[in-house]
Amino acid sequence: MNSKNILITGSGSGLGRAMSIRLASEGYNIILNGRTESKLIETQEILKEYNVKTFIKTGDVSDSKFVESMISEIIDDVELLHAVINNAGISGKPGSILRMAEAEAQKIMDINFKGTWLVSKYSGLAMKKQRKLTPLRGKIINVSSFAGLEPMPSLGMYSCSKAAIISLTKSFAKELAPVITANAICPGYHITPIYKNDPNLIQSMWNSINMIPLLERVGTAEDVTGLISYLVSDDSNYMTGQIISICGGVILH
Ligand SMILES: NC(=O)c1ccc[n+]([C@@H]2O[C@H](COP(=O)([O-])OP(=O)(O)OC[C@H]3O[C@@H](n4cnc5c(N)ncnc54)[C@H](O)[C@@H]3O)[C@@H](O)[C@H]2O)c1
Repeated sequence: MNSKNILITGSGSGLGRAMSIRLASEGYNIILNGRTESKLIETQEILKEYNVKTFIKTGDVSDSKFVESMISEIIDDVELLHAVINNAGISGKPGSILRMAEAEAQKIMDINFKGTWLVSKYSGLAMKKQRKLTPLRGKIINVSSFAGLEPMPSLGMYSCSKAAIISLTKSFAKELAPVITANAICPGYHITPIYKNDPNLIQSMWNSINMIPLLERVGTAEDVTGLISYLVSDDSNYMTGQIISICGGVILH
């Protein structure tokens, strides 16, 4: 049985829920975060069968006051935070960045980029303090996207926010070494609410922008969970600042 504690943002649905299930099945205690409490409770119900500790922290990752108090509450609840997975994100509506409203652009950057920075910042500070209590290192795992490496024409601002996450991951890796590692994953097209759970929508999108996965299928949420399991485990202890694509070969990186 594993007794490590992992915070997963955006874990009320999609990739975050699938990651929670995978890691709970491996014995990790899971701290669930998202904006919609009812969705987090649904995830928590699913995790019951694994007999791990679960906690719900409902709130917005782009709100610095919320994030600071969430991390402090987590330390009160579990004492040690072993890993954080910055998965919360939004794509915004597909369309031209020429016509995008400023408020929409701001929202995408706030949730995807600023949210990842805030959660990493307060987790990083807590992980540095806990180093005095345990030799265990902390791990930050950020969810970017293949669009952060090669922009999607229809999702320009989203692509920028995901590229910024890649740079942020490398900055945290440099600044927090050797105590804390920071790595990012770049998923592809996975059937989740971000794509309205609709594989046909995904396929028509990839045809229209001509960014087609070499593996010729849409991904499932579970397709990323093995990599996440590796990144939170001790097997990845000699790895930091790395950006790993798990996108079915939409782009080669
Ligand atoms: N599905 C894909 O194909 C795909 C591909 C590449 C990257 N991603 C990234 O994976 C992550 C998860 O997306 P998903 O596909 O599972 O979609 P999703 O919509 O199911 O998950 C996003 C989650 O983030 C939460 N969230 C949104 N704004 C938040 C905020 N301000 N504070 C806290 N939580 C917030 C949502 O409630 C939701 O549960 C996102 O960062 C997304 O950009 C997804």
